[in-house]
Amino acid sequence: MAVFLGIDIGTSGTKTIAMREDGTILASATAEYPLMSPRPGWSEQNPDDWWDATIETVKKVLKTGKIKPDEVAGIGLSGQMHGSVFLDKQQNVIRHAILWNDQRTADECAEIETRVGGRPKLIEMVANPALTGFTAPKILWLQKNEPKSYAKTTQILLPKDFVRLKLTGEFATDVSDASGTLLLDVRNRQWSKPLLEKLEIKSTLLPKVFESEDVTGTLTEAAAKLLGLKKGVPVVAGAGDQAAGAVGNGIVKRGIISATLGTSGVVFAHSDDVQIDPTGRVHTFCHAVRGKWHIMGCVLSAGGGLQWYRNQLAETEVAAAKKIKTDPYNIITEQAAEAPPGCEGLFFLPYLTGERTPHADPNARGCFIGLSLRHGRSAIIRSIMEGATYAMRDCLEVINEMRIPIREIRLSGGGARSDFWRQMQADVYGRRVSMINAEEGPAFGAALLAAAGTGRFKGVVEACSALIKVTSSTDPQAEAKRIYTKSYPMYGKLYRSLKNDFNDIAKIVAES
Ligand code: XUL
Repeated sequence: MAVFLGIDIGTSGTKTIAMREDGTILASATAEYPLMSPRPGWSEQNPDDWWDATIETVKKVLKTGKIKPDEVAGIGLSGQMHGSVFLDKQQNVIRHAILWNDQRTADECAEIETRVGGRPKLIEMVANPALTGFTAPKILWLQKNEPKSYAKTTQILLPKDFVRLKLTGEFATDVSDASGTLLLDVRNRQWSKPLLEKLEIKSTLLPKVFESEDVTGTLTEAAAKLLGLKKGVPVVAGAGDQAAGAVGNGIVKRGIISATLGTSGVVFAHSDDVQIDPTGRVHTFCHAVRGKWHIMGCVLSAGGGLQWYRNQLAETEVAAAKKIKTDPYNIITEQAAEAPPGCEGLFFLPYLTGERTPHADPNARGCFIGLSLRHGRSAIIRSIMEGATYAMRDCLEVINEMRIPIREIRLSGGGARSDFWRQMQADVYGRRVSMINAEEGPAFGAALLAAAGTGRFKGVVEACSALIKVTSSTDPQAEAKRIYTKSYPMYGKLYRSLKNDFNDIAKIVAES
């Protein structure tokens, strides 16, 4: 049977999986690399590390002996979105890539909106407002702050597309990832000429745009040799990690939504047409399904809040976990379960790294509000988890307001693997949530796109219908749902009350 490789260029590492055409995962490997933060709020990586990790993980997958090089019939790519790779004439990396979670471009975002005549005009052109994480403001930042580097730049690529260049020699991207640059006319699935003109960015700097299942090139002899594969294997366009992850969760039809709770949290909905939130609270991007779109809400610190607790405050739990050889999160969540739903009025705002959806606010901060003498460790942990889950509900509410039907919510990410957090999600969303038979996320989606694009399936929708099944469901518990229905509006009110104070705090920090 044919085998497809899915390669996901993540932020903490690259993951490669080998999927047999019947959907079985035969092998999987990951390789990590560092993230650099040369200044507060900056986030960079060396693109050459992504390529090294790609070689390493493909080799590791082959080394398992579970697949033979000549069985590989296609490769799909997925990756962290919005990152900017700047290349010179010789296709060398000019400087480290500026990543999706970099916050240096607030001025450039304001400038973009001014240059086009305001935020509504920009949303009309590219379906989205300017956000610090997106690629276009990073290009303007380079023009202004490192003009010599900009003058040398002949190609700008997204992370997975840099790896594609190494694999195939082709300068290409896909519609879903291109949407996150802010330079794509999302409605017409092509670069926005009017916006490129307004921002004085030459279109020759940008790669050719393909639909996600389209083959963009084949493995060169040199790349094949490095990876241990055969020359000529087709490489499909693939997708940004969120769209690829959605394919991996089967979010390819109207009414099926995913809620992925990892470090960040993403609520993702398929849409048959371009639906735009006029206030820009959620992103409207092209989907990895040919001719379709998606709506996406992104919570910057979802599971990230619990990671922060584990790293900064959970010495006791980490030590106890070590003793009984379990994951510290098991002990942490067991403690959370001791506190009642709603934590007797203790709230946590999860904005540890600012926020994107629904409040695009780099100055927002994390807070505990409502502490009393009754609150101990268990309530503190539970409130962190509830805060993240309310933030996910915020995204669902925007999608609901946009009249996108929510018939089924599929959970994924670390928050789906915990029974406790799964139940909490059902209770806070007030809806049934489901689990599916696939857990490999974006790398699996990329492999499905490769299988669809090389003719194993009629398209990605057929591939998902054939291979992805719901395996279990969790319904809300009446009492917990009642408490959360009452508490959720209060959670929203707290941000609105504190918004101006967050800005004042940012000013104090900037001036000190
Ligand atoms: C999506 C986003 C992140 C990155 C990194 O808009 O910013 O999901 O793609 O995973």
